[in-house]
Amino acid sequence: MSKENKFYITTPIYYASGKPHLGHAYTSVSCDVLARWNRIIGKEVFFLTGTDEHGQKVETNAKENKQSRKAFVDSLIPSFKEQLEKLNISNDFFIRTTEQFHKDFVQEVLQKAYDNGDIYKAAYEGLYCVDCEQYYKNDELEEGEICPIHKKKVDLLEEENYFFKLSAYQDKLLKLYKENPNFLSPNSKASETINRVKDGLNDISISRHKDSLTWGIPLPFDSDHVTYVWFDALFNYISALEENNNLDFWPADVHVVGKDIMWFHKVYWPAFLLSTGYEIPKKVFAHGWWTVDNKKMGKSQGNAIDPIEIANEYGADEFRYFMLTSASFGEDQNFTQELFANKVNNDLNNDLGNLVSRVHAMTNKYFPKGVPKINELTKDDKELLDKLNIYEKFNELIQNLDYFSAFDLLWSCIRDTNAYINKVSPWSEKNEKRLATIMNVLCSTCVYLGKYLQCIMPTKADLIFKQFNYENNNVFTVEFIKENHKFGKKENLFQKIKLDEKKEDNKVENKNLEEKREGFSKLNLIVGKILEIEQHPEADKLYIEKIDIGEKEPRQIISGLKDYYKKEELLNKKVIVVANLKPAKFRGVKSEGMILAAENKEGEVGVITTDAKVGTNLECNKEIANNTSRIQIDDFFEIKLKSDGNKITYNNKLVTAKGKHLTPDKEISGSIR
Ligand code: ME8
Ligand code: MG
Repeated sequence: MSKENKFYITTPIYYASGKPHLGHAYTSVSCDVLARWNRIIGKEVFFLTGTDEHGQKVETNAKENKQSRKAFVDSLIPSFKEQLEKLNISNDFFIRTTEQFHKDFVQEVLQKAYDNGDIYKAAYEGLYCVDCEQYYKNDELEEGEICPIHKKKVDLLEEENYFFKLSAYQDKLLKLYKENPNFLSPNSKASETINRVKDGLNDISISRHKDSLTWGIPLPFDSDHVTYVWFDALFNYISALEENNNLDFWPADVHVVGKDIMWFHKVYWPAFLLSTGYEIPKKVFAHGWWTVDNKKMGKSQGNAIDPIEIANEYGADEFRYFMLTSASFGEDQNFTQELFANKVNNDLNNDLGNLVSRVHAMTNKYFPKGVPKINELTKDDKELLDKLNIYEKFNELIQNLDYFSAFDLLWSCIRDTNAYINKVSPWSEKNEKRLATIMNVLCSTCVYLGKYLQCIMPTKADLIFKQFNYENNNVFTVEFIKENHKFGKKENLFQKIKLDEKKEDNKVENKNLEEKREGFSKLNLIVGKILEIEQHPEADKLYIEKIDIGEKEPRQIISGLKDYYKKEELLNKKVIVVANLKPAKFRGVKSEGMILAAENKEGEVGVITTDAKVGTNLECNKEIANNTSRIQIDDFFEIKLKSDGNKITYNNKLVTAKGKHLTPDKEISGSIR
């Protein structure tokens, strides 16, 4: 197979210093989605994960457990493998850095770097965080002694070490970043790395003397020293390939890592590779953190959530979907049971589950003998099929690890299909031939959507295929079902999650708090989609819009946009609605809210648009605009939102829709009204 058709993806190798948690599951699932998707579209994929088993942290934890280091890491491996299995991770190999082949490989590359003069010996004194396995400079620490990630005091270490000449790679790295803009992904985090590298790079210690640390790979050129865990760990990405006779998969297409270790992967790793003569990976993608009470969740923080418990109780596919669609992949997200339940109940149960169940049930009811053949397509059918044509876009979004947008796109298809059912209302269709066409379109659509769902919810996708008795061929077009095709047994895809009463109490409390809200959170700003638009019968300058903001019924809103937009320019546009304004009447027509638009000094007007999902509330500086108490229009004008032509701010802080960007149409900068 040609090299272009190969796809190599890796998770970090996780420290075997404690049990894995939701954060690890997150990275593994995100890699799994990309690995599965690339297999589905015909690539030859190698997907690597594993454990990082050397270093100070493992040594200390083993000691605390009164176990030998090897026995300690051995005892933890089953929990890592169990997590992979429970979450349906399709990795091709699981590497452990205590395996002989890996140790041999690391010694080989160390010798290479030593031979070409990149490694030298010197005395060193430094501040070390064991949880990071990293030295810090004074000014990088909080109050000069606290690790910014783990919030723990660092140790002062003093000894003679071997150093890697990282400083010699500054220019080469900057050149690399310039020539390969994808290497530093996501784009939003690129400048952070570039600026730090521009500030200058210190050489890094890559060994520890045996007297202070013995749990590591001995240096091939000085057996009194063991290798620094990061030099050891990073090379897993190549040693594993060599072990599997798969070196032609190098360079990796993407290393997915958390932002906690992006520096090692974006700076150390390419420098080590340049030094030892390997090609540079195509992309390092750093995602955000799962937080609990807005603190990073971690093994060493003691606030970890066990994904296996959740997957056992509510299903692995549900959990996979939740993790990847809760926020943009680059952003942090806070875990709550309530967010999880909302996702399962709304996106999965209401949107997808009901669609499949309705279509299956109706077809069986109307055509118990099998699906009749398709007849002539109407405008409604063609419109739906047009909307379903998302392969190119979906592929692009997934390959860019923009899972949030990719599944948002897929879910817009699911909602469009539900809307189509309501529009063509099969239950009142008297013409048998027309009914056959409708049901055929719907059945074909369900299995077509299943093809996209496979990468994120493999078990549910199979359930869809099975109940429609469909043999999947991974061809991404809607293929009409053959005449007299018989179905399999109906199976429910999802179950609703009931939030326990305690949570409901919480809600009541929140309600009471709402009256006291100030500033941004006094507003209820929601992403909506303009479904219909017409001229106000009594007012030349006004439009009447029907806007879907995720409520049962669309909102009717009157706007003064007539002078600035043609109807078709606004139709289907996503806009921002102020949803808690007191309803008002304009020349006899009721309006329940307002559309946000920016206006500049020249009097030009542009609405605020976004890619975010319908129903998303806007956020600013951790405050959410989701107040349900009504406000007056003057209250709104007191809260001064601004546009600078490409973003929206409040009090100079960025306003987003759950991490998604907001854009003023026509790049208008000015105040928002
Ligand atoms: O750093 N939110 O291992 P590690 C999101 N062995 N992702 C999280 C997370 C959280 N709260 N917590 C952990 C190491 N992760 C090294 C890596 S690679 C050559 C060596 C995920 O066990 C995320 O991918 O501390 C993060 O980068 C990784 O687990 C760190 O796992
Ligand atoms: Mg860590």
